[in-house]
Amino acid sequence: MRRFGLLTGGGDCPGLNAVIWSVVRGAARAGVEIVGVVDGFEGLVGGENGLNIRTLGSADVRNIFNQGGTVLGTTNRGNPFKYVTVRDGQSQIEDRGDEVVANIAQLGLEGLIAIGGDGSLAIAHELGERGARVIGVPKTIDNDLGSTDSTFGFYTAVEVAMEALDRLRTTGESHDRVMILEVMGRYAGWIALHAGLVGGAHVVLIPEIPYDINKVLGQVRQRWHEDRRNFTLIVVAEGAFPAGGKTSLVESAGAGTNARLGGAGHQLEVELREAFTHGWDRPMVPEVRTTVLGHIQRGGSPVAYDRLISLRFGAEAVRLALAGEWGKMVCLRGTQIESVPLVDGIRKPHLVETDSQLVRHARTVGISFGD
Ligand code: F6P
Repeated sequence: MRRFGLLTGGGDCPGLNAVIWSVVRGAARAGVEIVGVVDGFEGLVGGENGLNIRTLGSADVRNIFNQGGTVLGTTNRGNPFKYVTVRDGQSQIEDRGDEVVANIAQLGLEGLIAIGGDGSLAIAHELGERGARVIGVPKTIDNDLGSTDSTFGFYTAVEVAMEALDRLRTTGESHDRVMILEVMGRYAGWIALHAGLVGGAHVVLIPEIPYDINKVLGQVRQRWHEDRRNFTLIVVAEGAFPAGGKTSLVESAGAGTNARLGGAGHQLEVELREAFTHGWDRPMVPEVRTTVLGHIQRGGSPVAYDRLISLRFGAEAVRLALAGEWGKMVCLRGTQIESVPLVDGIRKPHLVETDSQLVRHARTVGISFGD
């Protein structure tokens, strides 16, 4: 019987289970067995812990297509090429990539379908360079992968952020406060920009446009002149930073781990308070409150559009695997699901273009980018 491997790697996002559902059902209908790898590439490293796999049939994926998370588990650690092991209290980094390639062959897998973001797809690509057959499926709430119009999970994150802004609006208006919402996205401002537009933000700060705090202050002041209101809704991407400043980090990158971004919202609050002490000409200095939306953006069921992309990505990945078209990444182009060489997906991050129509439209309706 033909067998394909399937794994989810990196941070979870809404829609992973829909891809799994679609791959498993598509494969079963073609008489192919799916071997699910547990906890991303970690499950294929083996060694003392052994391989961590489970066969998935249609019955195993019943009713999961609308659920958040991933039934296969995931991790954003466990890069086989920089595998961290602790021996006698000392951590060491080893290259276990060849073992993974050998394990894929030993399991009798024709190839591996890897659902992941930039990190996991880079690992998949490297495994391909070392002889494994792989197909990539792009996922991430950040929407920062190249060669696809969007990734699944993104629209759910935007929906959650939009709802948060709707809620911050009513409390912020009632108290006439400046309300800051920090959203995820790493070094891309897609979530902040989309949520800011549909959530009626007055200021959107994104990593692609370093901000000037005096321009942000100017927007708050303008709100007062236009509406006699201090109420101002600000969305700040976690990767946003002031011109000449740096991205706020909770934790720097370590052995086999990425840097953890966070703190941009609180940093902005501090800068804004400081700016009010010099540059505010009204009797009442506005109060500022900050909300960090965090992992709420990643949890829960995918919205309809993310579900649709996920199900179609899964179906296309199976079609490619059945046809033996390995080394590709499925992608969205307009309304069509297509595929590109896997390396194209990871070559260059997909960032907000500062002179794009989307940014221009945001400016047209009065959103300030703090520049
Ligand atoms: O890449 C998805 C993402 O949610 C980013 O937006 C965020 O910076 C990061 O993952 C958080 O990672 P973790 O779940 O490891 O805290």
